[in-house]
Amino acid sequence: MVEGIFANWLKAFVLRHQFQYTQAVNTRYGQRQTEPFSVDFGLVKVSVIGLGYFGATHAVAMAELGHEVIGIEPDPKRLSALVEGVLPFHEPGLDEALTRVIARGNITFQSGHNAESASADLHFICVGTPQKHGSEAADTTYVFSAAKELAAHIKPTAVVAGKSTVPVGTAAALKAAMSEIAGFSVNLAWNPEFLREGTALEDSLRPDRIVVGAWDDHAAAVLKACYQPILDLGTPYLVLDVPTAELVKVAANAFLATKISFINAMAEVSEAAGADAVALAKAIGYDERIGNKFLRTGIGFGGGCLPKDIRGFIARADELGVGSAVDFLKDVDAINLRRRDRVVALATAELGEVAGKRISMLGVSFKPDSDDLRDSPALDIALRLSRAGAVVTVHDPVSLDALAVKEPGLAREPELVEALREADLVILGTEWKQYKEADPVILGSVVASKNIIDGRNVLDVEAWQAAGWRVTALGRNIVNG
Ligand code: UGA
Repeated sequence: MVEGIFANWLKAFVLRHQFQYTQAVNTRYGQRQTEPFSVDFGLVKVSVIGLGYFGATHAVAMAELGHEVIGIEPDPKRLSALVEGVLPFHEPGLDEALTRVIARGNITFQSGHNAESASADLHFICVGTPQKHGSEAADTTYVFSAAKELAAHIKPTAVVAGKSTVPVGTAAALKAAMSEIAGFSVNLAWNPEFLREGTALEDSLRPDRIVVGAWDDHAAAVLKACYQPILDLGTPYLVLDVPTAELVKVAANAFLATKISFINAMAEVSEAAGADAVALAKAIGYDERIGNKFLRTGIGFGGGCLPKDIRGFIARADELGVGSAVDFLKDVDAINLRRRDRVVALATAELGEVAGKRISMLGVSFKPDSDDLRDSPALDIALRLSRAGAVVTVHDPVSLDALAVKEPGLAREPELVEALREADLVILGTEWKQYKEADPVILGSVVASKNIIDGRNVLDVEAWQAAGWRVTALGRNIVNG
């Protein structure tokens, strides 16, 4: 579907924009060079540096738009998988798109820079910014090393677009470091990424908005040309100052995290007050100012973004002397982590003593349609129960291989029914579709005790109770017969 829309668009667009672009380039030494920009405005030669979850998605998305993409990934295993057309992680629809753009010749992969990548007109930096060891702050080491390596290769007219999530102020430091190495003022822009795992390709090709922070018109114009097919769909294109663009990303993630923790705080209150947080979320969500999205109560947020981004934001605000402005994010984090404690406490209350009991964990990725285990609430709970002596068996539709690498000590079972055999307690940790659709009668026939904690509030409680299950859920006061 995506292919058809963009193939048609491309024909029209390339015809419309076949002209050479001449750009005055400010060199570091103050002379103005006038060079022909080597591409027509229809199709751009692009490099994408760092091919993790979002870099690989972005590279494929750019190739889907028809651009000539060079993906750069130093990790040999990840690189060889991509070269073979195999996606090294699970992301619905992206594997087919990868095969498609490789077959069309729109994308190639390499381990580092060479003359080919040096001739690109636009370079996207997509490397990770994980949480620093022993600190709450974001680790920007990979961004700086990728940028510095790139600076040694780029041409003066090229634009560098940073997409990694960085502490505000990073882009200015990067521009200075890159310009020093390149010997001219590097056209750096900041272009945050808002895609979600599980819907990454769709989010890339049909984003809510495209945000560009730029110091100069050239960078904003080249990025606009690159994204034109998406803009032609009516997508807002916001050109902002660079610090604001950097902040947009962390502010958006902080807001989303706050929304989830808000409803999880209401879940704590609901549990104490005999109320129902799911019904509460629905009722407040009808108010358009509040909205019903991101108000799903459960075991909370995880993944490689929201948790570390709010912590990095707190650390950066502290550095800027305005820590108290985002102090509430510490509560957002604490409320989120308390959800995991709550499940461990509920499991202990249900079983009396967890040691020696068989617990089946349904789902281990941080969200469905992903095999990402980074800061996964379900995995954290499984590990804590296992450490407490429970015999934990994990089921997940796609994440068991990743689990085998990350936590080989946890038992894995790919067959759902087998994963529940003889279980004393079942915990639903990730709301995969197949759990929502599972037959409670069939599953009830293999467990030792029909007892389930719905950590994501997605089960049809009545149907499960009718099949003889005792159902406990977060933020609700479910009466079991
Ligand atoms: C998040 C943002 O949603 C993206 O916009 C952003 O681009 C991305 O981080 C990033 O910074 O790269 P993602 O981490 O893929 O995307 O997943 P989300 O859909 O935001 O879910 C995050 C976590 O919140 C999951 O563990 C999910 O289960 C949980 N969640 C989400 C809830 O507990 N309740 C909700 O109502 C929604």
